[in-house]
Amino acid sequence: MKIQELRSRFPQLKESVYGKPLVYLDNAATSMRLDAVVDKWEQMSLKFNSNLHRAVHAMASKATEEYESARLATADFLNCSEKEIVFTSGATDSLNLLAFSLGESAFFEEGDEILICEGEHHSDIVPWQMLANHKSLLIKVLPINANGEIALSQLPELIGKRTKLCCVAHVSNVLGIINPVAEIARICHEKGCLLSVDGAQAVQHLKVDVRSLDCDFYSFSAHKMFAAPGVGVLYGKLGLLERLQPYQGGGEMIESVSWKGTSYAGVPHRFEAGTRNISSVPAIKPALAFLNDLFLDKEIIDYQENIIKYLLQELNSVPGLHLYGVPSDPSRKIPLFSFTVDGVHHEDLALVMDKMGIALRSGQMCAEPLMDRFGVSGMLRASFAPYNSMEEAEYFTASLKKAISMLK
Ligand SMILES: Cc1ncc(COP(=O)(O)O)c(C=O)c1O
Repeated sequence: MKIQELRSRFPQLKESVYGKPLVYLDNAATSMRLDAVVDKWEQMSLKFNSNLHRAVHAMASKATEEYESARLATADFLNCSEKEIVFTSGATDSLNLLAFSLGESAFFEEGDEILICEGEHHSDIVPWQMLANHKSLLIKVLPINANGEIALSQLPELIGKRTKLCCVAHVSNVLGIINPVAEIARICHEKGCLLSVDGAQAVQHLKVDVRSLDCDFYSFSAHKMFAAPGVGVLYGKLGLLERLQPYQGGGEMIESVSWKGTSYAGVPHRFEAGTRNISSVPAIKPALAFLNDLFLDKEIIDYQENIIKYLLQELNSVPGLHLYGVPSDPSRKIPLFSFTVDGVHHEDLALVMDKMGIALRSGQMCAEPLMDRFGVSGMLRASFAPYNSMEEAEYFTASLKKAISMLK
């Protein structure tokens, strides 16, 4: 069966915890590593290790070729030009780079506004707050409704003359709802506002085409999409990247350096100072190829849809369980389920489930404003990947009911 084939590509899924087979449902925090990603990392470390762009020797050329071909593969994956792909250390780094560089590049004047969605991860809030403090900007909040959907009808009036940037997750790490990014981009652009999209929870579930979304910036992490940790991507429209000042100074990001001053390399290299992640960046290629195949696989897509349907139905039937992020159109939900249970603390539930072999996330999930929105101190989250089976989903719901009855 297809799912077993898929599972065999992720060696860690064979592990057990407390003598029980591991049921890994914390994929939104980090996914399992694909075998081919580890192979590529090993090859880069043991066969082709060399620094990039610097020397004329054969190994340097090979390492540089591998690194730059990863850029090309990422550009193909997102449907953009390779000049529009900046490699960073993760989504957080991409967003910090963007906030810093926009702040240094005369995009904002004192008193300008940044509009941020209420559902954002701290990585898409704090860098903007830091920028706002530094440049005397105002932060405005784009609300979500009780279902967790963006209040789209409020967007046009929230974008005023001084709103220069809107920041939205493609998919929230708590709500699991696919936000209407293309529509948001259209509204932003009509009003002369740029759109930055945090895609950290989207790229592993959806075919993302930055051209058709028409967003201005798009950020994500490799470790959540079966690739290696320590790698991230910032996509930016070429004309915008070319207007941005660099984030960090150092080797490789320059055109020339003298005591009179420094001129910078073109994009994207001007944003990649110092020695890069020479083993892990090329290892993104097998993960992208794997995802490209998955997105075309009808059997896998149908299987995932059934899991989502099953979990929505089962979780909604548990007495006292509150699910957060239930879109009016269920096809806009990824297999990520955050919930609370009346009278049971999320940490206690997570600990009992862990003893049953099930890895879940509990707590504020780096989204404190969203916890405040729903008036809770934390939630429990089960996030599925395509290698999670229906048997695991069934074991999860049966174990959840058992754990709740133990704790109540
Ligand atoms: C929506 C979202 N944005 C940003 C991040 C930050 O990603 P990283 O820690 O890989 O930089 C995460 C991580 O959970 C996330 O879920």
